[in-house]
Amino acid sequence: MTIVDNRWEHGSFFHWMSPSAAEEADYPWGEESVLCGSGRDAFRVLIEHGRAKRGWKRLYVPCYYCQEVVESLLSTGIDVRLYPDGPQDVIVRGICPRTDNVDLRPGDVVLRVDFFGMRGSLHTELLPGIETIDDFSHDPWSYGAWKSNADWCAFSLRKTLPIPDGGVLWSPRSHHLPPQPPVTPEHRLISLERLAAMALKTEYLNGKPIQKNTFLELAIASEVKLSKGTPSGMTEWSKDLLNCFPTLSWRQRRRANYEAFAEVISGTPWLRLLHSADNKKSCPFSAIFICDNVELRNHIRDRLILLNIYPATLWPLDEPAISGIPQEYLDFSRKMLSIQCDARYTCEEMQRVAKIVIKSGDNYLNKHQEQPTQQSNPVSGGV
Ligand SMILES: Cc1ncc(COP(=O)(O)O)c(C=O)c1O
Repeated sequence: MTIVDNRWEHGSFFHWMSPSAAEEADYPWGEESVLCGSGRDAFRVLIEHGRAKRGWKRLYVPCYYCQEVVESLLSTGIDVRLYPDGPQDVIVRGICPRTDNVDLRPGDVVLRVDFFGMRGSLHTELLPGIETIDDFSHDPWSYGAWKSNADWCAFSLRKTLPIPDGGVLWSPRSHHLPPQPPVTPEHRLISLERLAAMALKTEYLNGKPIQKNTFLELAIASEVKLSKGTPSGMTEWSKDLLNCFPTLSWRQRRRANYEAFAEVISGTPWLRLLHSADNKKSCPFSAIFICDNVELRNHIRDRLILLNIYPATLWPLDEPAISGIPQEYLDFSRKMLSIQCDARYTCEEMQRVAKIVIKSGDNYLNKHQEQPTQQSNPVSGGV
């Protein structure tokens, strides 16, 4: 799509991308799967099933996790507990989640998360009586999703594909699946609202006289309502769209875009870019970097937004849905930024954004005459 110059922007939610170049892409999940309205709906359907049929009592989630998801998990009534895991653990302690210091017992379920598509695999030792759920929302076609040894996989599909709704649930260990939930009338409207926002955004980017607020309000309204009511199935149109996109080429584009960004940003002394633990198995969800301090991060974020580049904090932990998140995870969240690198963008655009990040940070540090050192960063590797 050619974007009119004065409408150029980077980030935020997907615009409508014409499904014109489909590829024969297989899925890590097969026919035996449940397609849900969102990642959270997939979790809620699964947890209801696990509590009713498999004796689930406690659900362990990583300390570092999306708090809207935690809120949704808590709404099921299951006893949600934390275990120490986050992106910095991937770098410092290795690829896989570690639960050896967690007092697990039969009836417990452990949710393992592929943070930002960095892990590629989530294999941990499986313990008798303890089930596992893998979340590959950030890289659904990763090696780990194909080869999962979990009891369950449940994740969002709308984070990596331009579809208005969708999540999936299946069992790599062939457990009996919960029934496919119907599409609720509320969810149908939410998805249409989202689709309208995506289509209007495309027209805006094309230079049509569309007010930015018109599609932003629709997008926000749909996001606020999503996954709040009865868990829903995925709409027919999103299911159809799943077969319409060049999914694997887009995944490669994500990797190439990430690398283009990394090439420019590498060597910048006041930030650390996270990288995939194993390039063959995983593909970064976005370009994620950690600044030396919170003020510097906030300055860069604000400066980017002024220039219509919309970075994200994945995830804000300042008002957590669950108490007891250790400070190190909070610190990480406050110092990080995520720059989208999906197929909407070219390598040149990624390089341009990287240069703006560097310039914004340098300007800030020159003004404040304090050059923080890398040692002040809690993450000790993974640049
Ligand atoms: C890692 C991860 N898992 C699950 C979800 C939930 O997905 P959805 O928004 O489709 O419910 C999110 C959403 O932010 C996420 O980032």
